[in-house]
Amino acid sequence: MSPMPLESATPLVADTFGRPLRSLRLSVTDRCNLRCKYCMPEEEYAWLPRETLLTFEEMTTLTGYFTELGVDKVRLTGGEPLLRRDLPVLMRMLRQNPRIKDLALTTNGLLLAEHAQSFSDAGLHRLTVSLDTLRRDRFKVLTKRDGHERVLEGIDAAVRVGFKGLKLDTVAMRGFNDDELVTLIEYGKRIGAEVRFIEYMDVGGATDWSLDQVLSRAAMLEALGRHYGRIEPILEKSSAPAQRFALPDGTTFGIIPSTTTPFCSTCDRSRLTADGMWYLCLYAKHGTDLRQPLRAGASRDELKSRLRSVWQARRDRGAEERKELEQSGARENQLIGIERLREDPRLEMHTRGG
Ligand code: GTP
Ligand code: 5AD
Ligand code: SF4
Repeated sequence: MSPMPLESATPLVADTFGRPLRSLRLSVTDRCNLRCKYCMPEEEYAWLPRETLLTFEEMTTLTGYFTELGVDKVRLTGGEPLLRRDLPVLMRMLRQNPRIKDLALTTNGLLLAEHAQSFSDAGLHRLTVSLDTLRRDRFKVLTKRDGHERVLEGIDAAVRVGFKGLKLDTVAMRGFNDDELVTLIEYGKRIGAEVRFIEYMDVGGATDWSLDQVLSRAAMLEALGRHYGRIEPILEKSSAPAQRFALPDGTTFGIIPSTTTPFCSTCDRSRLTADGMWYLCLYAKHGTDLRQPLRAGASRDELKSRLRSVWQARRDRGAEERKELEQSGARENQLIGIERLREDPRLEMHTRGG
């Protein structure tokens, strides 16, 4: 991996590869009201104990320390973040912090229709909704729940309320929704949202994953090219995981090729779980407990110095390491089994918020 070129505004804190600490994903709950095959396919999960969940004040305080070290993008995640009550209160608290230039939320959309307006009123900048299929029957198979209509209503509400830059995230899976790429792009075009196709990842929690279900970026571009004609990559300098493309009529879409073409060299993201464990990589096995020192009364300087030294020592490149295991056929052995996930639910994608 080649080191990341430093941008003109020198980051306050950089890791061993020169990657700045810039984007914080704040998980507000580990609970979810769906059971998506790629994330939570099991019947039973071990949940974080309630008393360990950070309060909004604690989240705001910790986020404040992160922003003093360079974080300017904050994304609220889950589980399903809308299951946490009074989310607009947290949004307002975070919006008091002028260092946060971008406050976003990723949701499965099920409860969005009733909350979209209050999120907009609270100052949320951007929304991403997961939408893997436009077919109600498939939604039920994928998520083990009903509710497709409600998700579409939620997306409509987000559009009505006027959220700009709405994104729809689709995990593209061979044999499941590979015949819906065009329909999803057309739907996005109709409502003014950008669709992003995400390669199915072998993250913690994806206990059903196998390489043959991964629909690769190359396969997606090939299928879309057959339908639309020439597809142009949009060249932009960005640390965002999505590569963007334009169709001949100017419609844009994204592909997040984490599995076949990892982008660890530009990764400026880290995650805080709802109980205050800080993870530097989607694939990291170990995190840093921030709740314990915070509740024990550690000072701002102590906590900031902890954050700084942990980030400066960061060497994570989880997706690239997984990719390297493919040649020897060892990739599929890396999946974390359900017993291990029950012992440490923070290894789950749904607990660390993607
Ligand atoms: P913006 O660029 O701010 O819109 O955010 P984003 O692209 O990070 O958005 P989002 O949270 O919706 O991420 C989309 C998906 O990309 C996630 O759900 C993950 O599947 C994947 N993803 C996000 N961050 C990472 C990352 O650091 N590493 C890997 N391998 N995948 C990621
Ligand atoms: N592969 C790819 N993306 C995933 N997500 C969760 N699990 C996976 C996985 N195994 C992402 C998707 C989904 C969001 C909640 O998390 O983007 O929409
Ligand atoms: Fe960042 Fe880890 Fe994802 Fe690589 S795998 S992009 S280091 S979170």
